Amino acid sequence: SGAGDPNILILPAHSRTLGKPVATNPYGQPSQYEANLQRRESPGLTRVGAASVSFTPLQGLFGIITPSGLHFERHHQGWHDIDPTKHRFMINGLVKNPKVYTMDDLMRMPSVSRMHFIECGANTAMEWGNVAVPSVQYSHGMLSCSEFTGVPLSVLLEDCGVDKHRAKVVLAEGADGSSMTRTISLERALDDVIVAWAMNGEMLRPEHGYPLRLVVPGVQGVSWVKWLRRIEVGDQPYATKDESLHYIDAMPDGSFRQYTSIQECKSVITTPSAGQRLLDTGYYNITGLAWSGRGKIKRVDVSVDGGRNWRTARLETPLLSKCLSRFNIDWDWNGAPAVLQSRAIDETGYVQPKINELRAVRGTRSIYHNNAIQSWQLAQSGEVSNVQLD
Ligand code: MTE
Repeated sequence: SGAGDPNILILPAHSRTLGKPVATNPYGQPSQYEANLQRRESPGLTRVGAASVSFTPLQGLFGIITPSGLHFERHHQGWHDIDPTKHRFMINGLVKNPKVYTMDDLMRMPSVSRMHFIECGANTAMEWGNVAVPSVQYSHGMLSCSEFTGVPLSVLLEDCGVDKHRAKVVLAEGADGSSMTRTISLERALDDVIVAWAMNGEMLRPEHGYPLRLVVPGVQGVSWVKWLRRIEVGDQPYATKDESLHYIDAMPDGSFRQYTSIQECKSVITTPSAGQRLLDTGYYNITGLAWSGRGKIKRVDVSVDGGRNWRTARLETPLLSKCLSRFNIDWDWNGAPAVLQSRAIDETGYVQPKINELRAVRGTRSIYHNNAIQSWQLAQSGEVSNVQLD
């Protein structure tokens, strides 16, 4: 006692010696002390690693951009590192001039850079039936947000002379072995869809579709076709396997809802969240993410008493359309048990529903499109866990 903290009293070696030279790591890496922050596969979720998912560690991230190395991965048949000089992209179907583009052709065209979230339609799937997973990484981690660069699909469709009288949809096809094909309405294709080659300022990583992927802002991840090789323009939805067998919503009356593509308004508190532990009472900055496939986030409210009382959180800038938004709110924890929730409202006025409001409409057999309010229970011990309220 009274000795003081040696970490401030004694000059450490790094203050007395020469550091490592520049370009020791020609491509930079995180600190060795951050090695625990990794995208992780949920044990036992799928039998084959090539047809699986790894989750983004949302609990350890700040701001709104997901570092490329922590962007979640979802592959139906594994990933490849494709030679860009051999990769081709074709547009055919209801167009005057079907064309085959090289990467050089595409990268000479006028490009745009936009920040958008991508969320798998199956994100938060396990919460439909019951409380299933122990952390926000596994409950909400099929969610990432990046800046994407590429040529607007509208420019390419114009270049090929799309037949605007007959065309109603486009079909996007990937070059991997999963026969991944998705129908997208022509209206959306001509709006904000991007044929992208870059993510966060560099070429796409192979796991995310190098050298080319579709960016479909606001729409579920499955439509963001990776290793994109073809767009066919057609006059009716294609009802492919990933549109009729998978990625359909089981409704309570036994029917299935198809082509539900938009990711509705949603939010989640990332800290404090399940699996974390508060070490003491006193001040905490409650922080989280909010997003909507229909535009910008207008407001986020936070409750610490299971939804009885709500306070409006601070929204950090930038507040972009179809992009993650970061919220923060001050809180003094008095040591009593608490239930933390966030509720987002988007610019259309849509309010994120409670899980039971959602179940009343959608039943419990769904896998996809669960955008319900998430509850984290804080025990007197400081442990935070995943709960569902009535
Ligand atoms: N595109 C192809 N060609 N093959 C795939 O397996 N998976 C889809 C989509 N695009 C997939 C694909 C699914 S289900 C999702 S959620 C997103 O890619 C995931 O993108 P990411 O791996 O970059 O996070």
